Order: sequence, then structure tokens, then C-alpha cells
Amino acid sequence: MLPIGPLMTEHRLIERMIALIRQDLDRIQSNVAVDPEFAFVDPVFIDTAVDFLRTYADRCHHGKEEDILFAELEKKDLAPEHRRLMEELKEEHRLGRAATRALVEAKESHLREEAGSLERLLTHLNTLTELYPRHIEKEDQQFFLPCMEYFSQAEKDDLLARMHEFDRRMIHEKYRQIVEGIETRRACPV
Ligand SMILES: [Fe+2]
Ligand SMILES: [Fe+2]
Repeated sequence: MLPIGPLMTEHRLIERMIALIRQDLDRIQSNVAVDPEFAFVDPVFIDTAVDFLRTYADRCHHGKEEDILFAELEKKDLAPEHRRLMEELKEEHRLGRAATRALVEAKESHLREEAGSLERLLTHLNTLTELYPRHIEKEDQQFFLPCMEYFSQAEKDDLLARMHEFDRRMIHEKYRQIVEGIETRRACPV
């Protein structure tokens, strides 16, 4: 398997979550069109979507792209077109992180019933549902396959092995951080 195989498989799951976010966004917008007072925002769904975007899409998926694939491509003599695309992709990762952070803030603000928070929440949901499909299409259609040409078979095998090792460590890292976070909060109660 090529090292881009797992990345493309992950794209399919990210697309499915983005479709679910789009469904929720459309539902809220339909409610708003009838009466903004009855625009029900499901905070549990937003929290689940944020956890998916942060842990799966960003830490697990973008982590393998940036820390393994892009890091190794940096060492190659890339064609200007491929270097430009890689910089665009990294910038889109940053935009995705910023929109996710802003979504969390808007959700908290909406729970406090602050003015303008619903509009901000819808804006950030919309940004994420537009950004991710475009980004994934760019990687799948324009970037991943041409980039494989820069690597020997041995290098490709090594990239794939490192990606598997990255995934193997992820679940342990996530839950260690959760335990450490609770321990820290309990040691220093506010
Ligand atoms: Fe990416
Ligand atoms: Fe990707």
C-alpha cells in the first residue's frame, strides 16, 4: 500500500462527518428562517463534531500529513507547483484549527445566550463544511499521487510504517492527556 492509502481512507470518514455537520447546519438555518428563537443548537453534537475535528481530522490525520509526509517532502527538491500546494495545504490546516476554535467559542457564547452568538456559530460551521471538502479534493486530485514520485519504494515503505506507528500511539496519547487534564484540574481547583 502507498503511504497515501491510509490518508485517503481517512478522507472518506472526514467527508462523512462533514456531511453530518452540513445536515445540522441546514437544520438550524431552516429553524432560523421560521423563528430565530426556536433555532435549537445541539451542544452534544457540536462537542462530538469538535472532538472529531480536533482528534481525528487534525491530530491523527493532519498530524500524519504534516509530521511525516510533508516533513519528508520538505527534504526533497520539490517542483515549485508542489511546494506552493504544500504551503496552501498547511495554511488550510491552520484555517481549520482556527475555525474549530472559533466554533467552540461561539457555542459557549450561545449557551450563555449572548447576542450575535448564533450567527457566529453558523458562520464557523459553514466555514468548516466548505473548507474541508475543498482541501480534501485538492490533496486527493492534485497533490498526493504526484508527490509519491519523489520517494523510492524503500522510502514509501518507511513512510507507511511510520504512519502506522503514529496511529498506534495516538489513542494512548489522547487518553493520557484526558487523565492528566482531570488530575491537574483537581490538584488546582478554581
Ligand atoms: Fe490536509
Ligand atoms: Fe488530508
